[in-house]
Amino acid sequence: MCGFHEKFINIIWMILMAITLTQEQKCGIAEEGKVYTLSLVIPPGSYKDEDVHIEANHGRIARCTLRTQTCINLHSNLYHTNLKKVEGSSVINVTVYNMTKTRFLSNDIVQFSYAFANDYQKQEMCEPKVFFRPRDIVCLHQITGEGLSLTCTAERIYPGGKCFFLLSFNREMSTIHSTSTSESIEELAEMPIYFKFNCNIFISKSTLVPALYHFNLSMYPSIYHSNTDVMYGTNDSLAIILDHPKLILENCPEYIEENKEVQCTCLNIDTSPINVFINWFTKDGQTVLGNAKSNVLKVKAKRIAQ
Ligand SMILES: *[C@@H]1O[C@H](CO)[C@@H](O)[C@H](O)[C@H]1NC(C)=O
Ligand SMILES: *[C@@H]1O[C@H](CO)[C@@H](O)[C@H](O)[C@H]1NC(C)=O
Ligand SMILES: *[C@@H]1O[C@H](CO)[C@@H](O)[C@H](O)[C@H]1NC(C)=O
Ligand SMILES: *[C@@H]1O[C@H](CO)[C@@H](O)[C@H](O)[C@H]1NC(C)=O
Repeated sequence: MCGFHEKFINIIWMILMAITLTQEQKCGIAEEGKVYTLSLVIPPGSYKDEDVHIEANHGRIARCTLRTQTCINLHSNLYHTNLKKVEGSSVINVTVYNMTKTRFLSNDIVQFSYAFANDYQKQEMCEPKVFFRPRDIVCLHQITGEGLSLTCTAERIYPGGKCFFLLSFNREMSTIHSTSTSESIEELAEMPIYFKFNCNIFISKSTLVPALYHFNLSMYPSIYHSNTDVMYGTNDSLAIILDHPKLILENCPEYIEENKEVQCTCLNIDTSPINVFINWFTKDGQTVLGNAKSNVLKVKAKRIAQ
């Protein structure tokens, strides 16, 4: 078995170049952890009485006999192979119950090949692209003096990812341009065949107003480098409320004496912790008093010109 296998791998490498172009269309893509079915069609009349051997990376998985239309499965816990006549052709379906990249010898590829017992030159090979859909996306946001930064992380994705946000703002929809988002990937230390994927969006303070911000996020592996890749990803959404903080003034004197120091404290009584920008104004709302950003105002009492 082992000797046979090594020989087989050598043959695979020899013919790899010749059939690379057609593999993608024929074998399609497979989601890791999901069921995958490969259909092999043998045209009517060819190889009538021969056996067909099906191999995966790690060895033979089935033998089918065209004459009797039967298959013997050798790893029935992992694969199921069946053969049926469809319009004169023999159709062999190989079902992988749980597609994984890691189960196989080579890290990146899963290869299937099939060959006729009497003629290994006629073998064909198939290499579906295996992708890992990002799951369990965690989003964290931070409000700083610069603005709002939202970072969403998928612990695992393959191949490298893409993301975009749709942002609705008080229920009106707007799309954030990709220039204000950034993506980063890093190899997973414990499993370097996958990536960890971060997606960030930043909204600067100047465009933030108290409102309900609703973010819809799409995170997906870049398989064909096209917009349709989004269907192999995961969508998530979250709401961030930027509200006017509820403030009360405390220990603020009702009467003040000219040229004496006045002290007054502003308290945020919101139950949820919220980062606030504090500015102190006079009653006309125009004149900025000192100590901006501090919640304690200390100022020398001055008469304002009428
Ligand atoms: C598929 O295989 C992976 C890795 O061997 C395992 O962690 C996972 O639980 C399996 N999933 C199913 C649905 O059997
Ligand atoms: C083979 O699998 C395909 C896709 O899952 C299915 O449509 C087809 O009916 C199957 N054919 C046979 C012969 O089992
Ligand atoms: C966000 O997703 C929700 C459903 O999850 C949908 O109702 C809403 O219209 C989406 N918003 C945008 C801006 O696409
Ligand atoms: C995620 O949302 C995008 C558009 O916002 C949509 O095109 C795509 O089909 C959705 N993906 C999934 C897996 O639901």
